[in-house]
Amino acid sequence: MSNPKSEKLYEAIFHRKSIRKYKSTSLDDETLSLVRNFLEELIPLDEDIKTEFMLIGPDDIKSLIPLKKAPHYIAAFSENKKGYRVNIGFMLQQMDLFLSSHNIGSCWVGMAQPKKNILEKSNLEEVILLSLGEADEAVHRQDLGEFKRKKLDEISDIEGDNEFLEPARLAPSATNNQPWYFTGNENKIKVYCARSNFIKARVLKKWTPIDMGIALYHLSLHFRVKGKKVEIITDNIKKEEKKGYTHIATLIIN
Ligand SMILES: Cc1cc2nc3c(=O)[nH]c(=O)nc-3n(C[C@H](O)[C@H](O)[C@H](O)COP(=O)(O)O)c2cc1C
Repeated sequence: MSNPKSEKLYEAIFHRKSIRKYKSTSLDDETLSLVRNFLEELIPLDEDIKTEFMLIGPDDIKSLIPLKKAPHYIAAFSENKKGYRVNIGFMLQQMDLFLSSHNIGSCWVGMAQPKKNILEKSNLEEVILLSLGEADEAVHRQDLGEFKRKKLDEISDIEGDNEFLEPARLAPSATNNQPWYFTGNENKIKVYCARSNFIKARVLKKWTPIDMGIALYHLSLHFRVKGKKVEIITDNIKKEEKKGYTHIATLIIN
C-alpha cells in the first residue's frame, strides 16, 4: 500500500544525488533523532537476516583514500548469510532517499571503514557506510539530465511501455557501474546483474550486490506507490540464465 511517506521517498529518486561536500557542523538533535527513528523503520528484503545500523561520527572512521569527512556516518552491519549485501542495499537506500527528501546530504561510502572500537561493538559483519550531513553544495538535482546513467535500452530488452524501469535506471551504484539488467513485463520482471571481467569483478565484488539491492528497492517502490502489490522472489527462483548475467530476483506485480 502506498502512503505519504513512501511517496516522499519515491519523489527523492528523481532529484537525489551523492553529496561529498559537507558543512563541518553536526546536524541538530531533532534531525538526528529523526534519522535514528527512521533507522528503526527500514524495511528488509529478507527478514531472516539480522542487521544493525549505528550512527557514528567522523572520528570513528578510517579512510582508505584521502577523504573530506562528513559530520556523521551510518555504519551498516549484517549477519553473513546468502543475499546479505543485497539486503543491506535495499534497506540503506531507504535512508538515502529519506535524507534527500529532508534536504540532508548523503553518500554511500565503500572506500572507508569504521575503526576497531566501532567494529568491536557489533557481533555482525561490517558491510558499508553512508555519510550524512548538511550539504555544502546543491543538495538536489534540478533536472533528470544531470543523472549520468545508461539509457533504458542498455539496461533492458523490454520495449514499448517500459517507463516503470526509470526509477531503477536512476539508482546510484558503486563507481556508477549500473550493473543491472531487466527482462519481462510490468507484471513479472526478472532482475539480472551483469558479470564483470576478472579485474573489475575483484574491485567491485563487495559493492555490486549492494547496487542490486538499491535498484530492487527503487523498482519495487515504483509499483508500491502506484498501489500495486509487489512480491520479490530471491530464493528458489526458477533460474532463467542469460549469458553474461546472473539472475538475482524476480518481481511479481499485481
Ligand atoms: C555501494 C556503493 C559504494 C560507493 N562508494 C563510494 C565511495 O567510496 N566514495 C564516493 O565518493 N562515492 C561512492 N559511491 C557513490 C557513487 O559513486 C554514486 O552513487 C554514483 O557515482 C552515482 O552518482 P549519484 O549518486 O550522484 O547519482 C558509492 C555508491 C555505492 C552504491
